Amino acid sequence: MNSPIKSGKEAMKTTIALFVGFVFGIFLGLSLTKMNLSSSLIPSINLIYVDDQISTIYSPYLKDGRNFSIEHHKLNETTKIWLPTNPPGAERLPPKIVESQSDFYLRRLWGLPHEDLSMKPKYLVSFTVGYDQRDNIDAAIKKFSENFTIVLFHYDDRISEWNQFEWSKKAIHISARKQTKWWYAKRFLHPDIVASYDYVFIWDEDLGLERFDAEEYLKIVKKYGLEISQPGVDRSSDYTWEMTRKKDGVEVHKEAEEKDGWCSNPPVPPCAAFVEIMAPVFSRDAWRCVWHMIQNDLVHGWGLDFALRKCVENAHDKIGVVDTQWILHKSIPSLNSQGQAENGKKPWEGVRDRCHKEWKMFKERMANAEAAQSQGHNSMNS
Ligand SMILES: *[C@@H]1O[C@H](CO)[C@@H](O)[C@H](O)[C@H]1NC(C)=O
Ligand SMILES: *[C@@H]1O[C@H](CO)[C@@H](O)[C@H](O)[C@H]1NC(C)=O
Ligand SMILES: *[C@@H]1O[C@H](CO)[C@@H](O)[C@H](O)[C@H]1NC(C)=O
Repeated sequence: MNSPIKSGKEAMKTTIALFVGFVFGIFLGLSLTKMNLSSSLIPSINLIYVDDQISTIYSPYLKDGRNFSIEHHKLNETTKIWLPTNPPGAERLPPKIVESQSDFYLRRLWGLPHEDLSMKPKYLVSFTVGYDQRDNIDAAIKKFSENFTIVLFHYDDRISEWNQFEWSKKAIHISARKQTKWWYAKRFLHPDIVASYDYVFIWDEDLGLERFDAEEYLKIVKKYGLEISQPGVDRSSDYTWEMTRKKDGVEVHKEAEEKDGWCSNPPVPPCAAFVEIMAPVFSRDAWRCVWHMIQNDLVHGWGLDFALRKCVENAHDKIGVVDTQWILHKSIPSLNSQGQAENGKKPWEGVRDRCHKEWKMFKERMANAEAAQSQGHNSMNS
């Protein structure tokens, strides 16, 4: 007898059996992973057991070199995970001696190392400067509290003169002639080097900070959970994009209206998920991603602003402009006037031309990279 009810029951039994088998399989898999992975399955890789006691751990699989193990523990407190611990190239070292990250904290030559630092600043601000802008930078630095490490990138080879300012003696000075902000940032602000800082400011030298306070700014950034941000730019300044102009009556804005035809729905850069490259502020995680996107040879960083959103999940919500702390953009020709006169063009024209070329090249590279990525996926699936 083949009643529909019976076959219904049969089907149910099979489903349950499959389900039990599946769950058992998972448990078996988990315990195998727990017990055997390090000793027998992958004997040639240096693995150590990760649990809540070990919170800072590095592995090539980590998305940002920090706390991956802890994040996984949140998924299931009792799930144990095995990870290789040493960074690539350092596998021979005993894991506990490996320091894969660093900082800019200045230390003494004497005494005990653990007594060197009276405090560890949680934030970092860098300015790319020429000595001619010293008064503006001096005024700007006063808007950053003792909770900031100050880094100056010098493009004009004049460093010792800055010691006229008391704060300069505690700043980090890095000098290379006629290089741009993004050139320095790529080389000296590697995410593993600035890993101690919750937020990194990478700013131009021609900003007016009369109406800006960095601590207050970060309060707003934290309140709104912004991963990438900038202060609003005063409406009297030269400006390129509506999104970055200060709005009245709000603390933060994440969208703006542009000229006809610029904004799509849902809005993308330059109408949302967008800040400009003159005064960006990155969270630690966002900077780790953005650093990887910066090209070594595209030194002006044009086009980067349109691509920042690729580094942030839910970019529309996590990228924004802070309106209660705002800045002036003074548009002082500085580094840009230090180009070279060529083919009858003025120095600044040559620089401007290169900016436009770089923007085009960056867009092409990104498009090619994305195409290559999606092709890779297709061939894996097929
Ligand atoms: C790792 O996570 C723990 C708990 O969430 C936290 O206390 C610790 O500061 C984190 N460590 C790093 C390096 O982020
Ligand atoms: C976590 O995994 C263990 C098995 O490793 C399981 O017994 C437990 O029910 C899981 N807990 C949750 C909250 O999923
Ligand atoms: C510096 O940071 C500490 C700790 O978060 C805070 O208490 C203090 O107010 C900060 N300093 C200023 C000037 O805001």
